[in-house]
Formats: sequence, C-alpha cells, structure tokens
Amino acid sequence: DKGGHKHFMAKEIAEQPTVIADALSHYLSAGGEIRLPDPQVDFAQVERITMVACGTAFLACLTAKYWFEQIARLPVEVDVASEFRYREPPVPAKSLALFVSQSGETADTLAALRYMAGKADRIASVVNVPESSIARESDLVLPIHAGVEIGVASTKAFTCQLTVLFLLAIKAASDRGTLTDEARADHLSQLRRLPALIAEALDQNVAIRETARKLANARDVLFLGRGPLYPLAHEGALKLKEISYIHAEAYASGELKHGPIALVDEDVPVVVMAPRDTLFDKTVSNMQEVMARKGKVILISDREGLAEAANGTWDTITMPDVSDAVAPILYAIPAQLLAYHTAVAKGTDVDQPRNLAKSVTVE
Ligand code: F6R
Repeated sequence: DKGGHKHFMAKEIAEQPTVIADALSHYLSAGGEIRLPDPQVDFAQVERITMVACGTAFLACLTAKYWFEQIARLPVEVDVASEFRYREPPVPAKSLALFVSQSGETADTLAALRYMAGKADRIASVVNVPESSIARESDLVLPIHAGVEIGVASTKAFTCQLTVLFLLAIKAASDRGTLTDEARADHLSQLRRLPALIAEALDQNVAIRETARKLANARDVLFLGRGPLYPLAHEGALKLKEISYIHAEAYASGELKHGPIALVDEDVPVVVMAPRDTLFDKTVSNMQEVMARKGKVILISDREGLAEAANGTWDTITMPDVSDAVAPILYAIPAQLLAYHTAVAKGTDVDQPRNLAKSVTVE
C-alpha cells in the first residue's frame, strides 16, 4: 500500500518525521536518559570503534564517524564490507565492532561480522530487521524502528540509522565524560526537534521538484560537502545514480581543486550541501571556484547561508536552521527528493531500478 503516493519511495520519504520520532521514543526518555538494549556497553572502556557496512548504510557509518570522534573523542575506522572482509585487518584490543544494515542480510556485511567475532570485545549491529542474520549473530542489537522499507533506494532507513548512531555517540560521550551537561542537552533538544525540522524540509517538495526537472537533462552531476556533510554528498550522488541513472560523483569540497574541478563546465550541475556551519566560508569559496568555471551550482543551505552566498548560483534549496551535528540527518531529505523527482521527470522505475536488489545476499 503506497498510502496515496505514486511510489513506495515517496511514501517512505514522507514517513520520516513519524519513524524518526518513533526511533527517538525507543531510545530517549522524557528526562533525557539514553536507554540502550542489554547488554550495556561502557564506552569508557572502548578504545576504538570499527564500523562496517555497504552502500547507504556505509554512508551512515561515515557520517557517524564525525560524531563519535568529535562528540565522544573515540577513534573510528569505517570500511565497506567487501573490502574489510578480505583485508583481514588486525583488531586492536578494546574494540567495539559496529555493523549497520537495513536488511540485516547483506552477505559481505555478515561475512565481515563473522570475521570480527572473537576478535572484537563486542559485536553490535544497527538493523531494521531484528530477526535478521546480522542481528542474530550480534551481542548487542540496536533496531532502527523504520518500519518495512520497500523502495530499493534506502531513505527512511538511512535517517533512522543516523538517528540511532547519533544517540549512540551521545551515550558514548556521556560514558567518556567528553560532553558538558549543557552541550549534551543542546544535542538532545536538536534531536527532539528533528521530526519537525524534517517535516519543514519536506515542505520544500514542490520547489525541489522544479530543481529536479532541470537536473533531469544533465549527463553528469557533482555533489560537494564538507565535514559531516561530506558523506551526505555521497548519499546524494548514490541516490541520484541509482534511480535516475545519471552519472553522479561526490567529493569533499576541499578535494575539488585536486582533480575533479577539471570536469566542471557549463553543462555540469554541482550540488553543494552547505548549512551555515563553522566550515561554511570554506565551502563557499570552493563553490565560487565552480561558478568561475561556469558550473551550475545548486546550493542547499539555510536562509542565512543563502542570503550570504546564493548570488550567481543556478538554483537554491532552502533548509531550516539546524545544529552542525544534526545537519547531515536533515540534509538527507533534499538529497532524497532531488533524486526522486529527477527519476520521476526521466520516467525511470523509481521503486525497482534496473540491476538492483533490495537485499544483496550474495557477494
Ligand atoms: C542504496 C541502498 C543500498 C544498501 C546496501 C546495504 O539506496 O539501498 O546501497 O544500502 O545494499 O543494504 P543493507 O543496509 O540492507 O545492508
């Protein structure tokens, strides 16, 4: 049942305020306590987190790396499962292994988990299907409560994964004493506002559809982001290629001048994800380098950021104000909507894109 939507993907995008509120209610008490399922992990005893996943779930891990490092001061290694499992890396003592998978059945992720079993102190997984193989073979299971996801391109599972990983980073920070009470309260209040902020972002649906109609004519699209928005640039590019079949690449904004800027000309749209955060000015100067080469910039930012930097862009997408840390969860929405509407404009099969399967149970 598509609930009145044209595609499951549209329905699942629209469900995000509800499912994220649900995920929060499972992990966060009214009094601000973060409650995790047993067995409890004392993050003060953890010296390193190794996160492994595939595809969009891998991009959730890359985003969470910024949180664990910045908020909990914990070293994090992230790898794609197909590389990790055959690289057979040494596992330092006091490691927590964390596997992220919507289906819980992805063959490479499961193989990486089996490699870590007996080597890491503890195996934890963030899954949407608590009965899945990955969940069954984990010591600690953190369900994301996204509900069944049918669209092949992951949307609500991604933002629910991020929500749970963010809570986990705050819990880690509390255990490790790396966060003041005030900063902790700030993060939690931003999280509580997230369903409303996402609803506000979804209100940009019609405006984003107009932008996507222009994007549908492109042959190549670049996505740029910095800091925790860098993995989101990858998510934007992945969603776009999966369902619209437009070639898309993502780069860290600061990497542009080390090669990819050679691709930029008047035919290349460049999507820049840049909330007005502490690195905003740096991203804007990268964006100006793109515009100087006639690249067509689509700037996604908040009102203040757009007031400052929209001059000369091809198009803009307005997001609500949000803290630096929570921004990547919110900016998933325009990434999803851009891909969705571009695919609809091109007439591709949004829910069942060619060559892709929802659950990849062979390597
Ligand atoms: C992208 C997408 C895939 C999956 C990947 C991992 O939209 O859906 O990249 O994220 O195949 O799947 P799970 O999370 O089930 O392990």
